[in-house]
Amino acid sequence: MQVNLETPWNIGPVEIPGRIVLAPMAGVSVQAFRRQGRRYGAGLVCSEMVSCAGLRHRNERTLGYLRIGSDESPLAVQIFGSEPDTMAEAARMVEDAGADIVDINFGCPVGKVTKTGAGATLLEDPDQAARIVAAVVEAVDAPVTVKMRRGLANGSRAALELGPRLVHAGAAALTLHPRSAKQMYTGTADHSLTAELVELVDVPVIASGDVTSRERALAVLEQTGAAAVMVGRAAQGDPWTVGEIAGLVEGPPTREEVVAELLLFMHDTIEEMGEERATGFLKKFYGWYLGRGRFPKPFKAELVQLATIAEVEERLFAAAPGVRDVLARLRAETPELEHRTLDLPVSIYAGG
Ligand SMILES: Cc1cc2nc3c(=O)[nH]c(=O)nc-3n(C[C@H](O)[C@H](O)[C@H](O)COP(=O)(O)O)c2cc1C
Repeated sequence: MQVNLETPWNIGPVEIPGRIVLAPMAGVSVQAFRRQGRRYGAGLVCSEMVSCAGLRHRNERTLGYLRIGSDESPLAVQIFGSEPDTMAEAARMVEDAGADIVDINFGCPVGKVTKTGAGATLLEDPDQAARIVAAVVEAVDAPVTVKMRRGLANGSRAALELGPRLVHAGAAALTLHPRSAKQMYTGTADHSLTAELVELVDVPVIASGDVTSRERALAVLEQTGAAAVMVGRAAQGDPWTVGEIAGLVEGPPTREEVVAELLLFMHDTIEEMGEERATGFLKKFYGWYLGRGRFPKPFKAELVQLATIAEVEERLFAAAPGVRDVLARLRAETPELEHRTLDLPVSIYAGG
């Protein structure tokens, strides 16, 4: 069956304009990343995972994740936790903040999260996982979705047992990243499992893992029968890959386009979290944008050493002299959001 990546689909009542979902990634999926992903054709964007305990305690940094721009919709905000009540309360806050979808993380393999009984741990505690989903579904009007890994141990098929139970508890869609928690990001995503899950449930399934091109996206959709593909690492510093998958972009970006997108991303990130935090947060993005053979290695190494954003910008303008025109065009296409400086956290890496 030939699948069309542009066909709209639904998660509950929420219409999603295309079949590409931008992955939730801790320390990456900030508002600037999500807005950029939408511009390059993602039909649905997701926040990184947000701690429900942090929301309960009105932790200022955690609350910062609930800033949502009007041009992000449809947007899923992902929460993690281990207790139904706390998760339900967090879901209400997420809905009040304007999220279209509440997503639950049952995939995070990082010890700091799993040792609290949250994230991937819940893959092997199906009763508690179902209680959490039921409590969250009861608490909000927005559709509730769940993102899973395949299980804890290599070869585990826990997600196939759990998935139907979660749908029974009210989940309106499921995302599967078919690696085990133990695997972290090694090996490959086994999408034969995704295909099995699709057969078992009557809600949309999103296939996550190793989608890096349009060709691959179409192959995964065809192999699995999933409703959509999720793109994660391939989108880091590379909106053009999202654009290529969406059929909006052909060929690699010019140096000017790379620098212009990076400068815009830097600007939006500073707006979002303030210059002090953004200075450290942005460093990994320099490598992502300027790598992939786009600029010589010493250049990105030099940028990471610089103490201020102003110095980084100066070097970037010098490295791509024609960038001002491209940047002006991008700015004209991307309306400014209201000013929104907030002290946001750079949370733990690798949430699912
Ligand atoms: C840096 C990083 C952070 C991540 N954070 C989250 C997260 O907060 N929540 C989540 O459900 N998955 C998280 N993931 C997993 C991704 O959403 C995705 O499932 C995984 O990277 C596989 O897709 P990919 O091969 O397209 O990267 C993260 C992955 C990475 C690389």
